[in-house]
Amino acid sequence: MANTILVGAQWGDEGKGKIIDVLTAEANIVVRSQGGNNAGHTVIHRGTKYILHLIPSGILRRGKICVIGNGVVIDPIALNAEIEGLRKLGITVGKNLLISNCAHLVLPYHRVLDEQRELRKGVARIGTTKRGIGPAYGDKAARTGLRISDLIQPRVFSKKLQAKVRENNSILQALGAKPINFRKVNESYLAAGETLRPFVANTVVYLHEALQRGKEILFEGAQGTFLDLDHGTYPYVTSSNTTAGGACTGSGVPPHRMDLVMGVMKAYTTRVGEGALPTEDASLAAMLHKMGREFGATTGRARRCGWFDAVATRYATMINGIDELAITNLDGLDSVDPIRVCVAYRLNGKRLKVPPCDAAQLQTCDPIYEEVPGWKSSTQSARKLSDLPRAARDYVNFISKLTGARLKMVSVGPARGQTIVF
Ligand code: GDP
Ligand code: IMO
Ligand code: MG
Repeated sequence: MANTILVGAQWGDEGKGKIIDVLTAEANIVVRSQGGNNAGHTVIHRGTKYILHLIPSGILRRGKICVIGNGVVIDPIALNAEIEGLRKLGITVGKNLLISNCAHLVLPYHRVLDEQRELRKGVARIGTTKRGIGPAYGDKAARTGLRISDLIQPRVFSKKLQAKVRENNSILQALGAKPINFRKVNESYLAAGETLRPFVANTVVYLHEALQRGKEILFEGAQGTFLDLDHGTYPYVTSSNTTAGGACTGSGVPPHRMDLVMGVMKAYTTRVGEGALPTEDASLAAMLHKMGREFGATTGRARRCGWFDAVATRYATMINGIDELAITNLDGLDSVDPIRVCVAYRLNGKRLKVPPCDAAQLQTCDPIYEEVPGWKSSTQSARKLSDLPRAARDYVNFISKLTGARLKMVSVGPARGQTIVF
């Protein structure tokens, strides 16, 4: 396997965790390079469900090294809880995990600010995960953030934290929110820092040395293309670069060391949180929710659902340079007939082949659909392309062609084995 960047080609929750888990068999190292514990990546193996938030999904496979890169924002308390949760399930977390000393910290005032800003926005809210992600990246960009390297130098950390708590408490007070208790935060964070200390490293150097030794690296994207801070449906986005370039800046591995970009997309579309979703369809959502599917892995919120949107995925291919596609959740459409596919948008009488930059305009785009026949039978036990009903094969080929990349995998169920690889 080559050095591969895996990205979500839609609005997140495309099934990246499942595909990473399949691909990790061939990789040596798995790297998270952006986002924080807003992510929720589900892997189901031997009947156990694992939900990864900050730790790369590669941790579930023995002998693989997992790296949390410099571009990730880390809530150290949440990370320790995740490590403990994995250990309880029998997963080894030790020398197989490295944390960048340059990664920024999520602090309690980030979470409160996130919540307060959402409250104040009212109907214009983003629908964040309330994990403090936006304010943490905000501090990073404003050059006032605290990092892992601070956390493991207790005196430096306490001094910087004290100033930050003072500054943020006056903001919180103005917002009418409860102030943060410096002493409590200082104590709990320093304790978390001590637990994390053995994992902390210069991950840039580690990755470069690994590359020199011919190791193969998998970059596990979080969120999805349309939640990207630059290319997504701004302002209804997350605060990091979720697209392929984020893997380079968020890990320190240069672009010319990357060999392949894989895009993961569902056979339909989902979104959790606010913002435009042009192909949203209430009856498709009701059907999927009735099956117990499409509830958020991090917040448990019901995901909004819609038809496959090829305008979006085609644009995702452009931005990310997607070479190969993994289509997941094909089985979600097993009982749907006919199936709609959005091939273009109509805005003010004009036919658009790419999404408009403006969120309000995207909101008023009408999808132009093509209808294709459904297959009305279960695909869940298919293990090779020829096991799929003809209409299902035609469907995956049709949406791959519209997206403009080579079809590499089709997933027909949440488990590792329920995957067709070409
Ligand atoms: P991620 O954030 O991209 O890793 O995706 P999530 O884990 O948040 O959401 C994807 C959901 O779809 C999870 O519940 C997965 O277990 C599930 N899943 C992934 N692929 C398939 C599939 O092909 N079929 C079914 N039925 N479920 C799938
Ligand atoms: P994975 O990696 C789906 C969404 C939130 C909200 C917006 C901003 O599991 O695909 P934030 O808390 O990041 O400030 O919220 O982004 N969002 C996700 N949606 N999957 C995710 O991650 C997401 N991470 C954030 O719902 O709309
Ligand atoms: Mg998810």
